[in-house]
Amino acid sequence: MNRYYNPVQTVEGPGCAGELAALLREMALEEGRVLLLVWNEDVLKLPTFMELADAGFMVCSLVFRASNPTVEQLFETYQATRDFVPEVVVAVGGGSILDVGKSLCCLYGTDLPDADSLRRLIEEKSYGHPAARWIGVPTTAGTGSEVTCWATIWDPERDAKRSVECRENYAFAALVDPELAAGMPVTLAVSSALDAAAHAVESYWAKGTNAVSRGLALEAIRTIMGHMDGLLAGTMEAHEAMARGSMLAGLAFSNTKTTACHSISYPLTMHCGIPHGAAVSMLLGPVFQLNAQALARPEPLLDALGVSSPKELAEKVCGILRRSGQPATLKEWGTQREELPRLARLGMTKGRADNNPVPIEPATILSILEQIYDSSCKLTRKGA
Ligand SMILES: [Fe+2]
Repeated sequence: MNRYYNPVQTVEGPGCAGELAALLREMALEEGRVLLLVWNEDVLKLPTFMELADAGFMVCSLVFRASNPTVEQLFETYQATRDFVPEVVVAVGGGSILDVGKSLCCLYGTDLPDADSLRRLIEEKSYGHPAARWIGVPTTAGTGSEVTCWATIWDPERDAKRSVECRENYAFAALVDPELAAGMPVTLAVSSALDAAAHAVESYWAKGTNAVSRGLALEAIRTIMGHMDGLLAGTMEAHEAMARGSMLAGLAFSNTKTTACHSISYPLTMHCGIPHGAAVSMLLGPVFQLNAQALARPEPLLDALGVSSPKELAEKVCGILRRSGQPATLKEWGTQREELPRLARLGMTKGRADNNPVPIEPATILSILEQIYDSSCKLTRKGA
């Protein structure tokens, strides 16, 4: 498969969030009904959002604070906003907000009396044409959610990670303004950057990889890994690079999806509380070691990562996590060794595990989890 498709207009650069009103006018809305979904009240005081009402838009704003949104939280947000009948959802925040914002567009116009009916809708994927459009304004450089047509919604009650996915639900535009991400704590900035790097690496070797996505992925990896020291030092140049790199990674994996690292990481986040970026990045080295056999030429990927082997990548990620003040092994994150077999079974995420270029099964995952249990800097030959 060599097809590449992504219809999202991308606007990037410092201060570009100021383009929001102009973009909304471009959308030729019938009534100008705009839902602003933000991660904290202070964001609403930024001029670009304050001026929307003066520009003639009917604005409803809602603060959504949760990370890793659940089916229940999405349902509550739908209930709180459906009577406003937004024509556009402007989602301003990290991946969780963007995922909730884009999911809402698929829900309006459908009568959902309770969270179970929403759960069924997500399972059946019978959204029809989205009743609203959306604009993504990421404030963390990491998820690339602004340029993908799917959203991760968690379902801890059913021990599952769900995906709201609709090819007609790409954003009208992505406004990638690094100034919005500049105030992020370094731990979150690094975790988000490592997540973005994982998106690009996994896109490079995913089953659906193509020439365009590989080009985007390599440029994303070079940009992100080349500015990691600057990010740890908090430079504005690094924040700009991360915003750009994350978007490029998003454009790459919007067509290929992710693979084993993401598949295995979901239960680590849901059951062990390990932040997404840390969880996926700890898996990069061991999964690269496994997948190397499927790569005709691993050199471009290794060069972009700035390493000579998967083992060196594991050590590099370990060092970055530690320098940002985060644990770098499952043991340090508080995971019990006896939990590993269950986590390995849960790591077979549909659509991700089966997208890995080398087949994986729970035994493969268990071997990988053992490698990162007490030293992500020391790879064994298992899975090689
Ligand atoms: Fe991710």
